[in-house]
Amino acid sequence: MRRDSERRVLRLAELYAPIAADLERAQGILADELISDQAFISDLCHHVRQFHGKLLRPALLLLSARATGELRPEHAVLAAVVELVHIATLVHDDVLDEADIRRRAATVNRLWGNERAVLMGDFLYSHAFHLCSSLPTPLAARLVGQTAVTVCEGEMMQVANRGNLALTEAEYLDIIGRKTAVLTETCCHLGAYYAGADEATVARLRTYGHSLGLAFQVVDDLLDLTGDESEAGKSLRRDVCEGELTLPVIHALRVAPPDRRAALVAALLSDDPQRDRTVGHLLRATESLAYAEGVAREYVASARAALADLPPSPARERLDALAEFVVARRA
Ligand code: IPE
Ligand code: IPE
Ligand code: MG
Ligand code: MG
Repeated sequence: MRRDSERRVLRLAELYAPIAADLERAQGILADELISDQAFISDLCHHVRQFHGKLLRPALLLLSARATGELRPEHAVLAAVVELVHIATLVHDDVLDEADIRRRAATVNRLWGNERAVLMGDFLYSHAFHLCSSLPTPLAARLVGQTAVTVCEGEMMQVANRGNLALTEAEYLDIIGRKTAVLTETCCHLGAYYAGADEATVARLRTYGHSLGLAFQVVDDLLDLTGDESEAGKSLRRDVCEGELTLPVIHALRVAPPDRRAALVAALLSDDPQRDRTVGHLLRATESLAYAEGVAREYVASARAALADLPPSPARERLDALAEFVVARRA
């Protein structure tokens, strides 16, 4: 297992090679935001600083900049901003999903309870908006504000649809578009815009970021059903437990013959400890896991196609490889 996670870190280091120094600068800016003169807030900040994730969003922003123009001082600040927004959503999401593990450590809600976790999420969002407002042009603050609103809408729509067995694939895609893909799109948008890219290039990078985000969340939802917690470093099997329908389940409910469909509905509604195994078995019988993987692969193909007209560069190569990484990942 240790070797797996070491391999993952090396793989990410290679993918992020053209922006390694900028990513480090962004992490420094992020760390400077996570301080407080209040001891208990300081403990929370220390926890968030200590356990970092894949840094996918800052990396997308910085690689998009490198692939389309010049990196400027704004980029490192914006990379810190998007990671702050992302961490805020995770801290709140773990309250909603009643999750115990995040980034190979206990969640904020598990360690300090829901009240402090909600406030910590607010603290992180507020730092993101404040940091953004320090930039000389208003686009970043407007875009990041709008994005955060959309992410919250996505999470609210997901909660509102808990237990809705009639959720359609289109509705699911709308939810994940808002809660995940709009943020990855914004990362690429900000990267390219502040690098001085023309409008058509910014639009291509936005398409890339949106498609990559959709693929990312479809795969994340697959990992929730089939992944390994110690590999993923976060709580899994939460979606069925919270009554949240994801793509494989939506597909199976649509295509399964009546007896299998009835068995799946019964399993989804039960609290039998064997439920996850039964659901997994039924999803395999209808090839619904393979269906969802196919959908993720189509989004990866759209993401890669959006890069076609960019001039060749090490950063463009890494964006291309990142799209593949998103579907191959186990964490
Ligand atoms: C997890 O995102 C939340 C989702 C959108 C599925 P990541 O898998 O990028 O989380 P970290 O940043 O690496 O922890
Ligand atoms: C949450 O989706 C994504 C957010 C935008 C917060 P998930 O609930 O699937 O994320 P994980 O699996 O907990 O990381
Ligand atoms: Mg979650
Ligand atoms: Mg998940």
